[in-house]
Amino acid sequence: MRKKFLLLLALLFLLVGVIFVLPVVQDHILDQTKESATETMETPTETETETETETETETETETEESTETETEGPGDPVDREKVETNLIIASDMHYMSPSMTDYGAAFEQLENSSDGKVIRYQPQLWQAFVSEVMAADPDALILSGDLTLNGEKANHQEFAEKLKEIKNAGIPVYVIPGNHDINKPDAGTYFGDHREDAETVSAEEFREIYAELGYNDAKSEAPDSLSYLVELNETTWLMMLDTTVCEPENKVYGEIKEGTLEWMEECLKEAYAEGITVIPVGHHNLQRLSRVYVEKCVIENCDEVLELLERYLTPVYLSGHLHTQKVMKHLTEPGMGSDVYGIWEIVSNSLILPPCQYGSMILNTDGSIDYHSSPVDVAGWASANGETDPNLLDFTAYTESYLRTVIRNQIYRTLEDVPKELKDVMADFYADLYQKYYAGVPVSYSEMKKEFGYNLWVRYMDPSTEFRQLDGMMRDSISANNHAEIPNPVHLKRP
Ligand SMILES: [Fe+2]
Repeated sequence: MRKKFLLLLALLFLLVGVIFVLPVVQDHILDQTKESATETMETPTETETETETETETETETETEESTETETEGPGDPVDREKVETNLIIASDMHYMSPSMTDYGAAFEQLENSSDGKVIRYQPQLWQAFVSEVMAADPDALILSGDLTLNGEKANHQEFAEKLKEIKNAGIPVYVIPGNHDINKPDAGTYFGDHREDAETVSAEEFREIYAELGYNDAKSEAPDSLSYLVELNETTWLMMLDTTVCEPENKVYGEIKEGTLEWMEECLKEAYAEGITVIPVGHHNLQRLSRVYVEKCVIENCDEVLELLERYLTPVYLSGHLHTQKVMKHLTEPGMGSDVYGIWEIVSNSLILPPCQYGSMILNTDGSIDYHSSPVDVAGWASANGETDPNLLDFTAYTESYLRTVIRNQIYRTLEDVPKELKDVMADFYADLYQKYYAGVPVSYSEMKKEFGYNLWVRYMDPSTEFRQLDGMMRDSISANNHAEIPNPVHLKRP
């Protein structure tokens, strides 16, 4: 009897196990299989191409953060007809007053050690640029920092007077500082064979000097930086961002301060609710755009700033600092389609670096944006104004040759243990590439790798800093950087 009872009890336990426990175990095994299948599917996308490495890193951060913000997102965007708006954008003009030099030996030393800036002809270049701005009659002229050579007070004062002439002609001018503008210890004058320190400016003095060139017309100002917001028209706001770190001492790198971030969000929220397009402009870059200059170019807290701007569907961010011409859309996923939203970044070529170009941007009534860059026609201006200097009358040829010579000589000195005749080939190859890279002209990476000059670089200079820069310029130049057609973000899929 006792045996029968125990047998019945065992059968009962077995039945309970089959009915309740087995399905749970099966579900668990199924879940585990699903997870591992998902991981397996994601792996090939993450290693898609070697050139996507930087974007991939951003993607991981984006995905994590976007889940958080989706729940408290800003709601559906307002789709409204926009006021057509024309902008001219220039950057890194590094203005130097002719009163700061006698163009002697110290000045030549400055020229030869620079990145190819045509400082000698800056007064004429500036006049030619202004005549084009006046003829185009844009709704605003935007200058995205590094206004002066090295933050000299005299250069700031003279440059501000020149900008006021444009403003007085009816074209609003908006400026922000770059890392060369405030508390710069390199501020100097160049007479004879001596460079001497010159007076620089504080952040407060910068704001005073340029009060009429943005600050006095601001709708609001950030509490802890020289950033300000301008209401350009009914549907367009300019968000001029101070990305510099200048106090207590000047730094090359950039950041957006905590109070400025909060102020930005308030501005963006207000604009978003009313269907107003906000165009942010900063000196430092928003994205890791360059394989040549990998440090101190991108805003230190760029991921946070980028996430904020994208949360409010900002179409484009304008910057400078690199001195190269660059256009890039932020990809939230590798291989993302053109129908998916991501903020664009346009980096303006330094105005004083050949080909001495600036950008023209049209904000269309349908919310799309067109951009292209074009060189200043200095030769046309020189001829129309009776100039006789042959360098001005054939400015393109002169500046191309000037840039190549400066860079060629600099790179030539770094080539050690290379036979002289091969040094010439290598220096020419580098200077040719440098010229195209800064202008934003595309090159074929695979074709350039076949060239004799490149193979000499591999043979004699790999590894070296110079070779890394050369290879970086080739990789960065695979697409054209002189135009952009930016769709209205409202009409795009959210990533
Ligand atoms: Fe600069």
